[in-house]
Amino acid sequence: MNVLFVCLGNICRSPMAHGILRKLFTERGIQGSVDSAGFESYHINDPPDDRAIETAEAHGIDIRDKRARLFSVKDFDRFDRIYVMDGNNHNDVMYFARNEKDKAKVDYLMNILHPGRNLPVPDPYYRDIGACEEVFKLMEQACERIAHQATVK
Ligand code: 4NP
Repeated sequence: MNVLFVCLGNICRSPMAHGILRKLFTERGIQGSVDSAGFESYHINDPPDDRAIETAEAHGIDIRDKRARLFSVKDFDRFDRIYVMDGNNHNDVMYFARNEKDKAKVDYLMNILHPGRNLPVPDPYYRDIGACEEVFKLMEQACERIAHQATVK
């Protein structure tokens, strides 16, 4: 299963989710690619935010190799599932969907844990490092569920 995570800057939330699921796929021998992207051009080609790197590292996950990139319409062809962090990301991704098949690939990451509620993974960028830890834990639970689903299918 090929999975893309999308947030705004592609330097905090989605790179952490990307790192978490990549590690789970590797550890469990799950076939598929994992990536992340954003919609804010300001950070293109930047590594993840220091707070995201530090938070992931504290959980044994190295995300320093990630470089921020923009979402592309081609991502609908490359990925089976596209998980967004909040309503803005959802609007942005859906705007580029070409057909119903594209749209069906998109969902809120938190819907994995709370189906149909469209809850956000809050943006930690303007908060302290504790916010990164909070969102890491939320995303870790969701990624665990994604990896489990990928194993049983
Ligand atoms: P992210 O956080 O979407 O979780 O990567 C943000 C990073 C940068 C900005 C906003 C959110 N920004 O406006 O530059």
